[in-house]
Amino acid sequence: MEDLLDAARDAIDEAYAPYSEYTVGAALETSDGTVYTGCNIENANYSNSLHAEEVAIGAAVSDGYQSFERVAVTSGKRDGVTPCGMCRQTFSEFCDESFEIITDGDEPTVYELGELLPTTITSDHLDK
Ligand code: THU
Ligand code: ZN
Repeated sequence: MEDLLDAARDAIDEAYAPYSEYTVGAALETSDGTVYTGCNIENANYSNSLHAEEVAIGAAVSDGYQSFERVAVTSGKRDGVTPCGMCRQTFSEFCDESFEIITDGDEPTVYELGELLPTTITSDHLDK
């Protein structure tokens, strides 16, 4: 767990957050143990800003991974921030309810995706 948090902390070094000055790093572990990291990348139009978790999962999926065990998320303030609702939804596409979300506060806290996003739309709701 500490290794994954360290990877998320390292990812913050590349964050591009000149507007909010709130830097975020994420480290996502696949089911074979490979780790993908991401940082937030802001944009002058604000709404195009990429979240650290999106960047990490985007890199992993574009590399062929669709199965994940856990993610560590931290901000430069190490304030225990959790993934926002949009990022929780993004994880729900590929991760089941037991997917672990590790946050970085005074002490690391481990949540499960199922408790942070108890009900939501999934592929089951859509005609395929
Ligand atoms: N941010 C993330 O990177 N992940 C989240 O889930 C929450 C928000 C970023 C977006 C923006 O660059 C900054 O944090 C302030 O909202
Ligand atoms: Zn987010």
